Amino acid sequence: MNHSEQQSIHESRDGDAADGPQTACDLRVAFDGNRGRAISFTCDGREIRAYEGETVAAALMAHGQRSLRTTSRESQPRGIFCNMGICFDCLVEIDGRPNLRACQSFVVQGMRVRTQYGVGEWELPT
Ligand code: FES
Repeated sequence: MNHSEQQSIHESRDGDAADGPQTACDLRVAFDGNRGRAISFTCDGREIRAYEGETVAAALMAHGQRSLRTTSRESQPRGIFCNMGICFDCLVEIDGRPNLRACQSFVVQGMRVRTQYGVGEWELPT
């Protein structure tokens, strides 16, 4: 099964299950079992569809996003490396809180994720 066939399965299966538009890229494998409830969140302002129970890292990877943070010294991209909470290469800002591991953070409806530069920035309440 090629990617466009998989994508069409996801679109037909999820068409009425989630709010928001289907994003152009969804690299999830076809799966006939039950996923969690379909939700959406944003990453750098882009709407990302996900399923409850997925990590932020998994959801972003499914949408083709491989770089999650940028180092401050050499401006090098970092992404999922260990995918089990050890390397800290997947740090992102979630709802204004920096330095959270995307591979250890579960998606939540409406959450705001930002890719992180260096040590990140706290978003202070106004
Ligand atoms: S990928 Fe290593 S801590 Fe998240």
